[in-house]
Amino acid sequence: MTKLVIANFKMNGSKDFIESWIQDFFLEQESANDVVVALPSPYLIIFNDRGLTLSGQNVSNEESGAFTSQLSAQMLKDCGAKYCLIGHSEARQFLKEKNEVIKQKFDQLIQESIKPILCIGEPLQIKEAAKTIDYLSEQLDLIDSDEEDVIVAYEPIWSIGTGLMPEIEDIQMAVDSIRSKFHKTVKVLYGGSVNSSNAQSITDKTDIDGLLVGGASLNPKEFGKIAQLC
Ligand code: PGA
Repeated sequence: MTKLVIANFKMNGSKDFIESWIQDFFLEQESANDVVVALPSPYLIIFNDRGLTLSGQNVSNEESGAFTSQLSAQMLKDCGAKYCLIGHSEARQFLKEKNEVIKQKFDQLIQESIKPILCIGEPLQIKEAAKTIDYLSEQLDLIDSDEEDVIVAYEPIWSIGTGLMPEIEDIQMAVDSIRSKFHKTVKVLYGGSVNSSNAQSITDKTDIDGLLVGGASLNPKEFGKIAQLC
């Protein structure tokens, strides 16, 4: 089945970098999977018509108004974003985002027909206390279980950018628990230290619907390989 493979550039790149990334990526790209690129916001509009499916990296929980520095779902839509990450652990950590606000972001995106990619994942102390499933369940509690076409990215915080990976059985257990929270179709992605050496085994050995790739996505050849292998 077609997988959803997302590149998360985070706060990396420049206009020139993304220009050459696109050229190299399309030279290599032979994947039948659906590829999405989450660019830093200013580049969405610049690279809007270059054959990429674009994602935002965050959005405001408000529709419009006196919220200096924020970006509304409508603005993201105008810039060509079809998807948007919300609840990424870096936004939870550095912007102090809580589940209630993340749920409001979810609703703002749905209103503008942008697909939210809801990121959830446990910190190391929760994993060590064997409380991962409860923790994930709590992060999903605010989303209506009847919601259609939900996309959840399971990203253990201790795995992001560290080279550490959960056991395959632990990924599958998280995926099962996420699916069990919803009555309708839900796509579950895995993220955290994905590269071209582990992508295939994650997708072959679990019933995951795709991957969210950070660091390794900055190399277009490596990302192209991941998109092809999974
Ligand atoms: P990583 O990041 O692939 O560099 O671990 C994943 C993410 O933060 O989405």
